[in-house]
Amino acid sequence: MSWNRDSWRNFNIKQQPVYLNLEELKSVEENLSTLPPLVFAGEIRSLKKELAKATMGESFLLQGGDCAESFLKYNANSIKNMFKVILQMAVILTFAGSFPIVKVGRIAGQFAKPRSSDFEEKDGKKLPSYRGDIINDFNFDANSRIPDPNRMLKAYFQSATTLNLLRAFSRGGYANLHEIHRWNLGFVQRTDLDEKFNKLTNEITKALDFMSACGIDIKNTPVINETKLYTSHEALLLPYEEALTRVDSLTGDWYDCSAHMLWIGERTREINDAHVHFLSGVKNPIGVKVGPNVTSSEILELCDRLNPENEAGRLNLIVRMGCEKIKQNFPKILKEVKKEGRNILWSSDPMHGNTVKASNDYKTREFDKILEEVRNFFEIHKSEGTHPGGIHLEMSGENVTECTGGAFNVTEETLAKRYETQCDPRLNADQAVELAFLVANLLKDLKK
Ligand code: PEP
Ligand code: CO
Repeated sequence: MSWNRDSWRNFNIKQQPVYLNLEELKSVEENLSTLPPLVFAGEIRSLKKELAKATMGESFLLQGGDCAESFLKYNANSIKNMFKVILQMAVILTFAGSFPIVKVGRIAGQFAKPRSSDFEEKDGKKLPSYRGDIINDFNFDANSRIPDPNRMLKAYFQSATTLNLLRAFSRGGYANLHEIHRWNLGFVQRTDLDEKFNKLTNEITKALDFMSACGIDIKNTPVINETKLYTSHEALLLPYEEALTRVDSLTGDWYDCSAHMLWIGERTREINDAHVHFLSGVKNPIGVKVGPNVTSSEILELCDRLNPENEAGRLNLIVRMGCEKIKQNFPKILKEVKKEGRNILWSSDPMHGNTVKASNDYKTREFDKILEEVRNFFEIHKSEGTHPGGIHLEMSGENVTECTGGAFNVTEETLAKRYETQCDPRLNADQAVELAFLVANLLKDLKK
C-alpha cells in the first residue's frame, strides 16, 4: 500500500471536526508545515530503544499526564507540578521496584479528544461536543463549539513552550537526585505518603553519599543529575499530525515530529481506517488502545500493519478493559497472541475502562478499581509468562478531586471541591504517588 504523509486522506476517518472555512484550514496547514519540528528523529530512536527493553521485561514504561491539555489552565506551575509528580513516581518505581523506568508524558500535544457522541445536551440545549482545545472551545454555547483551524497553531506554540520548560527542568539541575526532597508536593492531608516518600528519599541520599565516599564522581554523572522525559499524545487530529511529519535527513525515513510517541485511540483503531494507515508510515513508537471487545485477530492485524518487521519498541498495546472485564477477556487474548511470537509492549491503562457516573452526575473513577485493574493486569501476565511492560495514566500534578478513594479519600460529596478536568477524571498527585508505591510492590514481586 503506497504511503505518503497525506495519503490518509483517501481513507475512511472517524472523530474529525468539520471545518467550515476550508481555505483557512489549508492556510493553517501550510503554515504549520513550515514551522520547526517539536522533537527530532534521533530522540525518537532513543525512545524506541528504551521501549524495546521494556518489551523484553528489562524496564518499565511510565506514561501519564492530562486527559486533555487546556489553553486556559496553561501555566508554568502546572507544568512543573506535572513534571514533579512524574519524577516522584519514577523514582518510587525505580528505587522501590528496582526497575529502570522509561518516562513518557501525555503532554506538549495532548489536545484532541475522541467523543462517544457528536452532540452534548444540557438544560434542553443541544450543541456539538467539545473535541479538545485544538479543535473547539469547552464553553457551552454555539459559537464556542465551532471548530477553528487556528487553534492548531495555538496548540503547536503551547506545545513548544511546554516542551521548552520540560527540557529545562530535565537538564538544568531540577531533576538532580540530590534535590529529591524538593520534589515532594507537600499536600497537607497525606502524612502516611509523606512519611513513605521521605523514607525513600533519605535512603537515596544515603546511597548517593555512599557512592561519593567510594570515590565515584556522582556530581558529573548524567544519570544522577539529569533525566529524560519523552512526550506523547493521541494522534487524533490528522491535519495537525500530517503537517508535523517530516523526513529525517539522516535516514530518509518519515517521523511524526509532533511528539516522540503517538497512540491510536480505542475508537479510531479500525484496521482499514485513516489513523492506522497514517501511523503505519512513520517510524515513531506507536501505541494502540485496546478495549474489552478487541479480538486476538484484530491485534495480529494491527501488528502486521503497524509493525511488519516485528521490531521491539515499535508497538505498545495499551489495555483498557476495566477491572472486571480484563479478568474475563484478556487471558485468552494474551495466550493466543503470545503463540504468534510478536514483539508487543503491553501496558495497562486502568483509567478508561473504569469510568462511572457518581450519583451527583460527576464522571469519576474509583481508586480501588483502578488499582484492581493494574493488579489483574500483572496477575494475568504472570500466569501467561509474559511481561507487564508499563502503565498509562490520566493524572494531574495538582490536588484535584476527580477520582474517588485513595489515602486522600475523595468522596462523591467532595468531588465538587476541585473538579477541574475538561474531559476525563484524573488521579490527583497524592493518588498518583500512592499508586506508584503499589505498582512498585508489583514490580518487586516480578523479581522473586
Ligand atoms: C484517552 O486516553 O484519553 C482516551 C480517549 O482513551 P481511549 O481511546 O482508550 O478511550
Ligand atoms: Co481520557
